[in-house]
Amino acid sequence: MSVKHSIAAVLRQVLLGKTNLPQQCTVGIHDPQTEVSVWLHGIGAPRDVTFEHSIACAAPFTICVGGGEWPLNRVTGKRLALKFRERDGEKRLLAELGLRHTGTILTNGPGLRLFQIHGCKNYCLPKGRLWAHYLHQSYLRWRHKNTSHIRISSRAAHAMIVSFICPRPVVLVSVVSGDRSNIFPMNLLGMVSEGHFAFALDSTRLAAPLVAGAGSVALSSIPIEQSEVARQLGKNHKKESVPWNQIPFPTRPSTALSLPVPCFALRVIELHIETIRNLGSHTFFVARVIRDERRGEGRQFSMIHGVYQVWRLTHRHDAAVPAAGIPVHRAV
Ligand SMILES: Cc1cc2nc3c(=O)[nH]c(=O)nc-3n(C[C@H](O)[C@H](O)[C@H](O)COP(=O)(O)O)c2cc1C
Repeated sequence: MSVKHSIAAVLRQVLLGKTNLPQQCTVGIHDPQTEVSVWLHGIGAPRDVTFEHSIACAAPFTICVGGGEWPLNRVTGKRLALKFRERDGEKRLLAELGLRHTGTILTNGPGLRLFQIHGCKNYCLPKGRLWAHYLHQSYLRWRHKNTSHIRISSRAAHAMIVSFICPRPVVLVSVVSGDRSNIFPMNLLGMVSEGHFAFALDSTRLAAPLVAGAGSVALSSIPIEQSEVARQLGKNHKKESVPWNQIPFPTRPSTALSLPVPCFALRVIELHIETIRNLGSHTFFVARVIRDERRGEGRQFSMIHGVYQVWRLTHRHDAAVPAAGIPVHRAV
């Protein structure tokens, strides 16, 4: 480690103290996760949208919420918020995001609503420590300003921390378009209504146009034991095509679309893409589920933010130490 890096590590330790964990932590969690719930407030009675929302874009930071039937004139209003709560026990409030409605995506079911953020509160850490994390994050953004192609505001960065309080499963995306193919990890995704999944891909990477051209994908859940091999495939986001014989694990055809999926997949969801929207740093895909198959049991590779992992280690008896510290995920 260079002297410069050693000094930065010492300063980070002084600033963050016992809360000095990686920004993105790997955890193994059973599917569906049952530790955090996400509630939509401000439209009628609060509604549990834990499995009806997805991160749609990093810059501007945008969240998509689906589910219920909402008259458009009731989607506006200052009190709209997403609240992140402990699901069991005391149901403690962990964080909240103030929402501003910015768009609607129609599906053959209920419409999906897009929201940007107008406020962000995080209760996982005492205020002083939280601001130490914010300060450290601002420093990282400044340090990477010339190398990172996505510029995100402080508010977006704080909102991203909150979003990763809710454990986000990582999947491997299999895609084939003509003679090009690829497989890469993705964690900006979620079920947005019954029968629809949505996901966000960096608009500047080659993975996004490949998926758009293919029109369908298979998402494979990853056992925690395979998290490292899946993470290594992050570089495939930048590749035009990856031959299947170069994939470091055995695959087999998915049931409906015959896309090559890892033999170790715990669950395989096959999707037809219905809507594609370029929202800024990320292109947002909404897709209809054509087959959802469980193939195994076990803890699934998921990611949470280090700030929530600190809270978790203090308050949850079942919180394991992260399997591996993952350095800040550039797209977020
Ligand atoms: C576990 C994991 C999950 C990722 N999820 C997404 C995602 O949901 N959307 C996306 O556009 N990129 C995603 N990426 C890609 C990264 O943001 C990044 O572009 C890629 O790993 C290349 O990184 P590099 O520029 O450091 O080489 C993911 C990467 C990893 C390793």
